[in-house]
Amino acid sequence: MNTKVIIKIYLLLILVCFSTFLAEAQHFSPTLKMKNNIQKEWVLEDVQKAINYCEAKTLQTLNNLGESDKSPRTIPAGETHWEAKQAGGWTSGFWAGILWYVYEGTQNDKVKQEAEKFTKTIKPILNAKVRSHDLGFIFNSSYGNAFRLTENKEYAAILKVAADSLTTLFNKNVGTILSWPAQVQSKLYAPHNTIIDNMMNLELLFVASDISGKSQYSTMAVSHADVTIKNHIRPDSTVWHVLVYDDKTGECIRKCTHQGYADNSVWARGQAWAIYGYTMCYRETGDEKYFQTAKELTAAYLKRLPADFVPYWDFDDPEIPNSVRDASAAAVVASALLELSGLDKNEPDKSYYRDAAEKMLWSLSSPAYRSGTKNDAFLLHSTGNKPKNVEVDIPIIYADYYYIEALVRLKKILETEKAG
Ligand code: GLY
Repeated sequence: MNTKVIIKIYLLLILVCFSTFLAEAQHFSPTLKMKNNIQKEWVLEDVQKAINYCEAKTLQTLNNLGESDKSPRTIPAGETHWEAKQAGGWTSGFWAGILWYVYEGTQNDKVKQEAEKFTKTIKPILNAKVRSHDLGFIFNSSYGNAFRLTENKEYAAILKVAADSLTTLFNKNVGTILSWPAQVQSKLYAPHNTIIDNMMNLELLFVASDISGKSQYSTMAVSHADVTIKNHIRPDSTVWHVLVYDDKTGECIRKCTHQGYADNSVWARGQAWAIYGYTMCYRETGDEKYFQTAKELTAAYLKRLPADFVPYWDFDDPEIPNSVRDASAAAVVASALLELSGLDKNEPDKSYYRDAAEKMLWSLSSPAYRSGTKNDAFLLHSTGNKPKNVEVDIPIIYADYYYIEALVRLKKILETEKAG
């Protein structure tokens, strides 16, 4: 080989190393690059416009629901109106929650009356045997927001009953809540299972401790969060979906997925629940361990995002980029990162999380993800359970819930900043 060829190879190697370094550095750089042109900061007027868009959609849905007291869950492909369900399933509380947030963002009293009406439809769930950990999702989104905004003690009393029911699923030997009792009976995930989504339901326990002044609820929540840090998070800060534990020894005996692409893949909404859950745990306890965990989970999520900040349903689906997105995961993370940014005292991370959340919200508010005049939802392109081909690439109610929650959070942040 002559000298010229050797120099060329040498230069080529340097170029390859430098490009790899740049690509890696971008993952950890505080500058979050979106490939489309959505780069501007949100101002109050933008946020209010987005909230007003949600209000108009909400009024449209109320009109289409008529006298029905069923709660919207999905808009099936090709349809324009929500398919609504009797209270019972894990998504039951989100419609009432949306109404509370729209009321908070607009002060529309008609929407408040509807929020009160739909919140009441949730209560009968407490008369049935406890079916799952989802009591947190169901009651915190409905009664939790009702209590937060009205301070009405009747709402608090229901929250405490719901939390009492949730505590019946806590297993002391494992230190976590049993997420799916039905999957113990079916022996699919027996004898004790905990899913990462369960992190979201701990908020109901913290609320119950606040209401009752009794620490037993938050003690359980802390135990669940600690055991989940130990077993549910991989060395690269991504999360498993389902863990199966021995109910007597507490040993973790299986790690797998139920809604993700593969057992060891990164299911986007699972990662989103974890980010939101640990941010909330830090808010409730002030424990730095939860803060660090939320940040590590966030770094693992952000570095996997596509250019428009809305994840594919599973980051490891081999069909990417010809696969479906999950706008619900983007909405959950946007809301969580606004909170994480508020809790973070230090720059540049504080601005980094805010910037990421704002970009997610711009993307979700763009024609690519907004339903606009297509149907009654706020957002398109959420994915519930891809492996089972259920609720794929359609509007789903929890995406709208976390989207409006994030917008209302951002509005409050901007108002506070404006007030100086
Ligand atoms: N279990 C809640 C979810 O599907 O993310």
